[in-house]
Amino acid sequence: MIERTVDPTLAGDDGDDQHQEEQRIENVLRPKDFNGYIGQERIKKNLKVGIDAAKKREEPLDHVLLYGPPGLGKTTLANIIANEMGAQIRVTSGPAIDRAADLASILTNLGDGDVLFIDEIHRLNRSVEEVLYSAMEDYAIDIMLGKGPSARSLRLDVPKFTLIGATTRTGALAAPLRDRFGMLHRLEFYQPDEVAQIIGNSASVLETEVHPEAAKMLSTRSRLTPRIANRLLKRVRDFADVNGDGIIDESTAQRALALLEIDEVGLDPADRMLLKSIIENHGGGPVGLNTIAALLGDEVSTVEDFYEPYLLQLGFLERTPRGRKVTHKAYKHMDIKRDKDDPDQEKLL
Ligand SMILES: Nc1ncnc2c1ncn2[C@@H]1O[C@H](COP(=O)(O)OP(=O)(O)O)[C@@H](O)[C@H]1O
Ligand SMILES: [Mg+2]
Repeated sequence: MIERTVDPTLAGDDGDDQHQEEQRIENVLRPKDFNGYIGQERIKKNLKVGIDAAKKREEPLDHVLLYGPPGLGKTTLANIIANEMGAQIRVTSGPAIDRAADLASILTNLGDGDVLFIDEIHRLNRSVEEVLYSAMEDYAIDIMLGKGPSARSLRLDVPKFTLIGATTRTGALAAPLRDRFGMLHRLEFYQPDEVAQIIGNSASVLETEVHPEAAKMLSTRSRLTPRIANRLLKRVRDFADVNGDGIIDESTAQRALALLEIDEVGLDPADRMLLKSIIENHGGGPVGLNTIAALLGDEVSTVEDFYEPYLLQLGFLERTPRGRKVTHKAYKHMDIKRDKDDPDQEKLL
């Protein structure tokens, strides 16, 4: 799988220098409070009310579940919530907690009012999930002592903590777990003007000058996703440093984006190839997710979580009971004429 500039996920920390640099810059750019966190107004409003109420009652905040496509600000929001609560945050992830005992140890080491952030919470295994249920509900866990017939269970209190879970897919979350969250918030794709604002803020942190028209251009090509916006900004900044005076104006941005092969709506060659092969080999669909994954040479879950949401958001793909279909809008964008025999042909007129 080739690396894509428009990949909404953060490059994994596999020790690679470029990936470490990306993570470092991401942390630098991460807003620390609600004021710096652009957009998602409804979620911010609800969270602020919850936080104020919890503070007034001197109680921990209700457990919060954040879901939505990668790169939209779930991890950032979790940190901001902890910050606004004046709480410590302990960060872990579903796949990192192997056994129930690992979770028990994390929980018993928390302090009252602390935030426990579990990223990719849909990937917790069952036995760990069960421990979490009673911890979330009763601030207590049952641990088994010994084995076989002499085994007995012991109930342990854990501090009054707040769980913040993040997931790209609530569908994959067990209902009993989902039900134990007091607040569920779905992060939406951003508006272009919000993305432009994020680009402006990031540019000033990076001490780079970006003309407003250039920020606007980048905002429409960032898949309405802050992580991609910040990444494009960095790439374009490199381009401006090498090919000009380091200032990002419209023409510099335009040339850099052309070099990156990112088109006016933020699609890269892989997206266009995908649409094209559904059109050419499958008459525009409907095709199953498995077929799409095979065309991309990627996992079904990757297609579902990472690539499809933006194509759906653009209205380039639509979900039908028989699979995904390429829409008229996508044909137009790709500048491909629809087959005469196509029963949907009249829609084109
Ligand atoms: N609302 C926002 N305002 C400003 N920057 C944001 C916002 N949401 C995300 N970002 C930026 O985008 C990057 C990715 O956000 P992150 O919280 O890691 O996304 P997620 O956890 O959903 O994958 C971070 O570097 C952060 O600075
Ligand atoms: Mg995250």
